[in-house]
Amino acid sequence: MKIPETLRVIRDEHNALSGMLQSLSLLIRRGPGDEPQRFFDTLEAMLFYIDEFPERLHHTKESGLLFPRVVKLAPQTADAVARLEHDHAKGEPAVRELQHLLLAWKFLGESRRAAFVDQFGRYLSFYLEHMLLEEQEILPVAERCLSAQDWADLDQAFAANRDPLTGKYPPDDIYEQLFKRIVHDAPAPIGLGG
Ligand SMILES: [Fe+2]
Ligand SMILES: [Fe+2]
Repeated sequence: MKIPETLRVIRDEHNALSGMLQSLSLLIRRGPGDEPQRFFDTLEAMLFYIDEFPERLHHTKESGLLFPRVVKLAPQTADAVARLEHDHAKGEPAVRELQHLLLAWKFLGESRRAAFVDQFGRYLSFYLEHMLLEEQEILPVAERCLSAQDWADLDQAFAANRDPLTGKYPPDDIYEQLFKRIVHDAPAPIGLGG
């Protein structure tokens, strides 16, 4: 059977987010150097993007559409799903916290740098573990258990995400400037900046 579109979209979005996190790590390790304005602007744009795309679109559809069907058909996934739901609830406050810590570093200076860097390290591990758990424990079970009708419903919803960071869709008008800026200023693998 052909791989359902939903699973392809989820994996593409995970890859895009991993790339974004990798690019953020690199940028943070490099630090503001002699271009602090550009450094902070780029980090702000990237964190804002994570808040807009994965947090609002990707997680919402996993929680609202995919997980309930998987748990119903494969109750052995209940513990993993409970943990993933807990992560989804934590994801948005966690990225907001990072945005706040970044502003503290930007406006209050070096003494607030370590708090941001440490929190980003925790956020990075949290997110990578989260995606791995989904890919190892949920997606293969979904592929085995869900019906053609389930996939038809899910495919329609997930196909609407169109995250431009996957490299497969042009950004919607309202995201175009933000997306261009990230691609221009962020380091690889997401952008072209240094
Ligand atoms: Fe998730
Ligand atoms: Fe996910």
